[in-house]
Amino acid sequence: MHFLEKIFSVKNEGNHKIVCFLGIKLKFHKEKKLFIVESVANKEEDISKIFLKNEIYFNGKRIYEPIKECNVIFEIFGSNNIIKLNEFKGGGSLKIKAHSNMNFSFGTNNIIVQDALVVVNVVLGKKEQYNLEIGSNNYFNGFMFIIPTTVQNKKVVIGNNNLFAYNVRFYGISFHMIYDINTKKQVNEEQGIELGNNIWVGEDTLFLNKAKVPSNSIVAARSTINKEFNEENSIIAGTPAKVAKRNVMWHFELDDSYKHTDNPLEKYNEV
Ligand SMILES: CC(C)(COP(=O)(O)OP(=O)(O)OC[C@H]1O[C@@H](n2cnc3c(N)ncnc32)[C@H](O)[C@@H]1OP(=O)(O)O)[C@@H](O)C(=O)NCCC(=O)NCCS
Repeated sequence: MHFLEKIFSVKNEGNHKIVCFLGIKLKFHKEKKLFIVESVANKEEDISKIFLKNEIYFNGKRIYEPIKECNVIFEIFGSNNIIKLNEFKGGGSLKIKAHSNMNFSFGTNNIIVQDALVVVNVVLGKKEQYNLEIGSNNYFNGFMFIIPTTVQNKKVVIGNNNLFAYNVRFYGISFHMIYDINTKKQVNEEQGIELGNNIWVGEDTLFLNKAKVPSNSIVAARSTINKEFNEENSIIAGTPAKVAKRNVMWHFELDDSYKHTDNPLEKYNEV
């Protein structure tokens, strides 16, 4: 870039004229006939500011810029997010799209096989912390989408050693209010979502507010989980989901190796 262009440049953006002067971006407003300041800092400065306004940790150490060696994509716009990440394996990425006040921890030894595990936190005029906990040794096939809760002490929690098929979604918030027309009280208050350990979740499953799945379960493909289940060793299936089979356990391999282990993902969790 020419030296003068770095100090002063004028270009057209749609119907507007954009003037950049010493790093300050000004947009000419035609109707008001004045310049409006669009942005002050350049992109690199923005990134370091974002990492200062948020506490982001990687493998236990606070970081001040995106990590290059691990495939984490940050799209952070706000402040007061506390994000504790650990390295993960696999060819996929972890995309974190956060506005403000998210409290997110991602354990150790997780695997994201392909595409992305996407975590989106949105601001709805609330100041509470958005909470999401993902444990360790989980196997994410990819294209997974999680929206944390927006209420203090209510969380989306995923335990350890779980296997997620493609396209699994968690809606910790419903986005819109439902209230009783007589009392005017909200009826769809956020209760959180909780998954135990050693759960196999089938493709296209949707977890909604209040969903709770106990350890050692199987969630059938295309299920909608919108309430609490407490019976371990069952298949939970359908929309809305019901217990469809009892006294069962699952294993990663389709051979008889299940007879020799209690941990369905044992082979894949070796460090
Ligand atoms: C649950 C699953 C594993 C089948 O297990 P199974 O032991 O063979 O179970 P069955 O087929 O005998 O089904 C048991 C009951 O659950 C019901 N059921 C099974 N899968 C269901 C589903 N996806 N949605 C709704 N009901 C389902 C069956 O209709 C049956 O109900 P019934 O007893 O009233 O007839 C299979 O249906 C499934 O969903 N697999 C997930 C596949 C997947 O996503 N793989 C991705 C790789 S990670």
